[in-house]
Amino acid sequence: MVIAIDGPAGSGKTTVAKLLAAKLGIFYLDTGATYRALTYLALKEKVSLSDAHALQTLAKGINLSFRDSAVYLDAEDVTAGIRTPQIDKSISQVVSYPQVREVMVKLQRQIAKGKDCIVEGRDITTVVFPNAKLKFYLDADPLVRAKRRYDELKAKGTDIGFEEVKNDLEKRDHSDKNREVGPLIKSKDAIVIDTTPFGISETVEFIAEYIQKEN
Ligand code: DC
Repeated sequence: MVIAIDGPAGSGKTTVAKLLAAKLGIFYLDTGATYRALTYLALKEKVSLSDAHALQTLAKGINLSFRDSAVYLDAEDVTAGIRTPQIDKSISQVVSYPQVREVMVKLQRQIAKGKDCIVEGRDITTVVFPNAKLKFYLDADPLVRAKRRYDELKAKGTDIGFEEVKNDLEKRDHSDKNREVGPLIKSKDAIVIDTTPFGISETVEFIAEYIQKEN
């Protein structure tokens, strides 16, 4: 069984999906992390971010694994390294290429294959798992989302101002919603949840109850 969750950055979907998977005792796949790891690898290997073909080749050879909520590239734990402002700034270009997305979508399906899991991202309900048993779209006020992302970076000791975080988030929202392949859209059959007034635990409870009702 696949439970698909989409939504923009800062909507709370990563935290919600993680807690929900732990509560239900099922696998969790953060597809944003797969694109982040590819971007990390491209920067490390000095692959030009405007070379779609080279990025596709890199994607085809990527050795990614998810273990105990950590993300590994080969044997390197990149969990923290893929969530930096540098990756945030570079990633929109990497995820915009259809040939790169094609490879990554295959990889995401392969990772989830045969598992009960919660898969979270931007095009999960529409492209990666359009036949998912349950679909959710999480959203929140843009300022609240920017504040969540800012607090997350500050908690890690990142030297960055709120305005810069807000501007980066607006840019990513724009390119996520307007790219030609796999854009962020509200799938017609997704349940939309505005997390602005809710805490994370309330959202997790709501979805968990919904899943129980549907099963
Ligand atoms: O969820 P996140 O912020 O970690 O995602 C990082 C970037 O990857 C984001 O700008 C959009 C992109 N992404 C995507 O294009 N498709 C997905 N399924 C997941 C993330």
